[in-house]
Amino acid sequence: MVVCKSPAELDKMHRAGLIVWGALEKMRAMVRPGLTTKELDECAEAYTAEHHARPAFKGYRGYPGSVCASINSEVVHGIPSPSRRVREGDILSMDFGVELEGYFADAALTVPVGKISPARQKLLRVTRESLERGIEKIRPGNRLGDVSSAVQEWVEKHSFSVVREFVGHGIGTKMHEDPQVPNYGVPGQGPRLQEGMVLAIEPMVNAGGPGVRVLDDGWTAVTEDGSDSAHFEHTVAVTSDGPWILTRPRDAVGPCW
Ligand code: MF3
Ligand code: CO
Repeated sequence: MVVCKSPAELDKMHRAGLIVWGALEKMRAMVRPGLTTKELDECAEAYTAEHHARPAFKGYRGYPGSVCASINSEVVHGIPSPSRRVREGDILSMDFGVELEGYFADAALTVPVGKISPARQKLLRVTRESLERGIEKIRPGNRLGDVSSAVQEWVEKHSFSVVREFVGHGIGTKMHEDPQVPNYGVPGQGPRLQEGMVLAIEPMVNAGGPGVRVLDDGWTAVTEDGSDSAHFEHTVAVTSDGPWILTRPRDAVGPCW
């Protein structure tokens, strides 16, 4: 069942979203060779506590961290660790969510560590643009397949592949609500978007094939072929004015991350 949110609820979700955005921007500013993924986790926890929110991932189905930090061929759900350091040339995906007064917001981005190869730059750019293409389709009357197919087409046009095993999701008073939001689909198909629906759109894009597997830690998803992977996500509300990105300031302009 898809639950639509009132304007007052969307305002609450935006307040949660601004904490997610602020934490991710703070984490982004820390990234340099030698940083451990545990330090990112601590940064997010401190920022969230200062803003009287709760990290949404911690304890979710037993997840041990507050952020997911996934490096290079890690797709999503990398567990923060004091022994895991990023190095010059790596790409680092940072995924974070909070609960504030009963409402959730969720966002992610992939950033370069120092100077990265042109191939990695392209993967980051195309994945971010695929999210932007999907967000552009968020308006009342469109169908979910319009969003999903816009993401998929942009990715495949650049010869990358979309991960199938993990999908975006509705979000609100729970982190995961209906509907599922795949990053592949057919235009004109799927549920119709209505004012007040909120979707976490989160393309996970592999430079090689689409296959992924989960490591023995039970969480870390990696590409089957060892190729690089990137992940960008925003929590977006359907409004009569078009998409409202709840996980960034309202007056933000330019690229979505
Ligand atoms: N953005 C991810 C999601 O929507 C984060 C979940 S990590 C988990 O599922 F640990 F909380 F599962
Ligand atoms: Co999500």
